[in-house]
Amino acid sequence: MNISKQNILSALENITVSGEGKNMVESGAVHNVVTFADEVIVDVKLSTPALHIKKRTEADIIKTIHENVDPNAKVQVNIKVEAPTKPQNPNLIKGKPIPGIQNIVAVASGKGGVGKSTVTANLAITLSKMGFKVGILDADIYGPSIPIMFDVAMEKPLSVNVGGKSKMRPIENYGIKILSIGFFTQPNQAVIWRGPMAAKALNQLIFDAAWGELDFMLIDLPPGTGDIHLSIMQSLPITGAVVVSTPQNVALADARKGVAMFQQENIDVPVLGIIENMAYFTPAELPENKYYIFGKEGAKNLSEDLNVPYLGEIPLVQSIREAGDVGRPAALQTATKTEEAFEAITKNVVQQTVLRNENLPPTEAIKITTMAGCSAVKK
Ligand SMILES: Nc1ncnc2c1ncn2[C@@H]1O[C@H](COP(=O)(O)OP(=O)(O)OP(=O)(O)O)[C@@H](O)[C@H]1O
Ligand SMILES: [Mg+2]
Repeated sequence: MNISKQNILSALENITVSGEGKNMVESGAVHNVVTFADEVIVDVKLSTPALHIKKRTEADIIKTIHENVDPNAKVQVNIKVEAPTKPQNPNLIKGKPIPGIQNIVAVASGKGGVGKSTVTANLAITLSKMGFKVGILDADIYGPSIPIMFDVAMEKPLSVNVGGKSKMRPIENYGIKILSIGFFTQPNQAVIWRGPMAAKALNQLIFDAAWGELDFMLIDLPPGTGDIHLSIMQSLPITGAVVVSTPQNVALADARKGVAMFQQENIDVPVLGIIENMAYFTPAELPENKYYIFGKEGAKNLSEDLNVPYLGEIPLVQSIREAGDVGRPAALQTATKTEEAFEAITKNVVQQTVLRNENLPPTEAIKITTMAGCSAVKK
C-alpha cells in the first residue's frame, strides 16, 4: 500500500484505546498525520504521562504502519501529554463546578494519622513535576497541616479583584496553590465550629477564591466519614477519591468504611484507588532492609477484596516525616527512593483519573436531605 495520509489513518484505526472501545482515530488521540515520500509523522495527544503507555503507543503505531502500509516507512511519532479531561456535559453536573478546574481528587482515609496530608502534599509536588497545574484545598478544618507541610503557615491570602468581585488569592509555594482554614486562625487557637459553620468556611475557600486554571485540585480531607466529607461532596462534583491506609487492621477497617462512604449508592464518588502508606520501615543506613512493622500488604489485599485499584506503596522513612515537619515535601528531592515511590503512585492516580473520565459521566454533587450522615440523595 502506498504511503498516504488516508492509508496511514486507516492503519491507525487498528489501534484501540484502552477502556474506551474506540480506536485512536475515533477517540481524537491522533492529532495530525504528515506524509512525505517514505516518511510519516504522526502527532498524538495522550492524557497520561505514564512512560510505559507512551512507549507502547509509539511501538503500536510504528508496528501497525509497517504491517498495514509499508514495512520500510520511516515513522516518527510525536506524543504530547494533555491533562486528563473530557468536555463535561453541563446538564450532568448538578453541583457547582469551579470554572477552570479540570479534576478534583479527594484524599481520604478512615483512621487519623495514616498520612493523608503527607500523601496529598507529595502527590501535588509530583503532579506539578509532571507538568500539571495543581492546587490543594486543605479541608481539615479542625487540624489543618498543609500550611506547615508547605512552609507557609504564617502567610495570609490577599484579596484580588476578579470580574468586579473580591476573591482570596491562594498562597503559592513550590508551584502549588494552597488554601486552608489554617491561614485564618492563630497557631494556638482551636477551631470550635459546628458542622454548618465549618461547611460555610469551606465553601468560601472553594468558591470565593481565585484558583485560576488547575489540572488537579487535591482535597486533603479530615479523618473519618463525617460532616465535612458530606459538605464537600455536596458542594463539589468530585472526580474521584484516593483512600490512604497503613497495613494494620485498625486502619484497614476504617479505610473500608471510607471506601464504602464514597461508594454508597446516593453518593457514588468513584474511588480511584487505595494507597498503602508506611508499608514497611526502612532505616536510612540500611536502605535495602524492610521491616513490616504494621503488617504486610494489608491495603493491597483490601483493594483486591473491595475490587478497587491498588495505587502503590510508600515506605515509612524518617526523611518523609522530617520533610513534612520542615515544610519541604519529600518528593521535592530528586533521585531518591521516596521520589520514585511517589512517582509510581502519581502515575497510577493520573491513569485512573483518565480511565474514570473516559468511562464514567461526571460526578454529580449530592444533596443532603436529612441530618448529615443519615442520608443523602442526588439532586
Ligand atoms: N511514609 C511515611 N514515613 C514517615 N513518616 C510519615 C509517613 N507518612 C506520614 N508520616 C508522618 O506521620 C504523621 C502523620 O501523617 P499525616 O499528618 O500526613 O497524616 P494524616 O492522615 O493527614 O493525619 P490526620 O488524620 O491527623 O489529618 C506526620 O508526622 C507525617 O510526617
Ligand atoms: Mg491530615
